[in-house]
Amino acid sequence: MRNLLNITDLSTGEIDELIALAEDIIAHPETYQDVCRRKKLATLFFEPSTRTRLSFEAAMLDLGGSVLGFSEAQSSSAAKGETVGDTVRVVCGYADIIAMRHPKEGAPFAAVQVASKPVINAGDGGHNHPTQTLTDLLTIHRERGAFRDFTIGFCGDLKFGRTVHSLVSALARYTGIRFVFISPEELRLPRYIVDNTLKRNNLPYIETTSLESAIPDLDVLYMTRVQRERFFNEADYIRLKDTYILDCDKLERAKPDLCILHPLPRVNEIAVEVDEDPRAKYFEQAANGKFIRMALIMKLLELSV
Ligand code: NCD
Repeated sequence: MRNLLNITDLSTGEIDELIALAEDIIAHPETYQDVCRRKKLATLFFEPSTRTRLSFEAAMLDLGGSVLGFSEAQSSSAAKGETVGDTVRVVCGYADIIAMRHPKEGAPFAAVQVASKPVINAGDGGHNHPTQTLTDLLTIHRERGAFRDFTIGFCGDLKFGRTVHSLVSALARYTGIRFVFISPEELRLPRYIVDNTLKRNNLPYIETTSLESAIPDLDVLYMTRVQRERFFNEADYIRLKDTYILDCDKLERAKPDLCILHPLPRVNEIAVEVDEDPRAKYFEQAANGKFIRMALIMKLLELSV
């Protein structure tokens, strides 16, 4: 039985297969409408979500399956003090596959110790978010055709941004990708990722505080929100939250074929005027999330058409 806790649980070959399957689902959705008949997906969300939970649910519904779950810890028995392990063990009696989001790093690892059904990490604290990475990879693949020979800039909260951590781990396995990390000093990429992923693999990277100076070299720009819920101190959040705001002025110095991504939700970090720029791909990215999750559910349930 397979789970998805980290993006590196999937080989690059498996990622290629998932992308090919998602592309086929996009082209021929009707072929897949009954693949998950009588199967149930449980979405256990102990933390807020719009895209991840709803795209998982839409994915299962479009595969002909059904969904059950909760969208906040307060409406589950976690509010009575139940452990994640007990909740997951019980839900395995009701559902065929589980997507789980939790504010504590490592919670899905605790879940798989007791789970008898596949568990998908839908975001664990400031750690990882592998299904957002699959969404990002599908989008980059659709925009650029391949995972090689480009420069990607990550901008914003690189410390707590779990989508950044997972996407860096995923892209580190390809060749010819250059990384530019743009953040305030306090929100730099965690040193464990710099040491274990970037340095260990001899990957070309730079760290800077200036979006303006980095933008002309970028082929992909991955903007992120400052992760308010992970701060210990509201004053620090307020001081850092508007450090970077991408607007049409800044984009004048960018490449004409730049691909602008953002996992969403956005707060202030991309001005609404940018939405009309053809380089803005974040709403397409959000839409792609449903299709790659359809492919993932099929893979973990070992179903095909
Ligand atoms: C991200 C997350 O939850 O980490 N959202 C998402 O799943 N698309 C990014 C964020 O909340 O900033």
